[in-house]
Amino acid sequence: MSENKTMDNLMEAFAGESQANRKYTAYAKQAEKEGKTNAAKLFRAAADAETLHALKHFEVAGKIGNTAANLKDAVAGETHEYKDMYPDFVKAAEAEGNKAAVRTFTYAMKAEEVHARLYAKALEDVDDAEEIFYYLCPVCGNIEKERPENCPICGVPGSKFIEY
Ligand SMILES: [Fe+2]
Ligand SMILES: [Fe+2]
Repeated sequence: MSENKTMDNLMEAFAGESQANRKYTAYAKQAEKEGKTNAAKLFRAAADAETLHALKHFEVAGKIGNTAANLKDAVAGETHEYKDMYPDFVKAAEAEGNKAAVRTFTYAMKAEEVHARLYAKALEDVDDAEEIFYYLCPVCGNIEKERPENCPICGVPGSKFIEY
């Protein structure tokens, strides 16, 4: 087996484990809603285990650069998502009349545009030591540098934003 095959496999495993983390998190939330505490705990623990696997696969694949390089990569990824991927997805969902999909894609598209801008700014200021706070909208994934009155993307009250 060639070295390239293993590189491909590492990235495939990274994608699969990343997805399993999200899936088990969703299942854990559902189990909590149903009061199935033990199943919820197992889903939470397994979700964290898949994250450990994903992070190690990604590291071994040599995909982690220095922070400036990682910020550049993040700008590129978010830009692709908000400029190309989500606009196409929104159009297709509209054509199929799937309103919930239009909504989740539109929220993500608008939030990714903000993320791209924040990453670009962070790259510019990568050597600045002055502390910055970020505020995450728990509904649409928007990120602001000051707690807003309401989320400019989805309208959620600023009090709900999570500080980082
Ligand atoms: Fe993003
Ligand atoms: Fe929001």
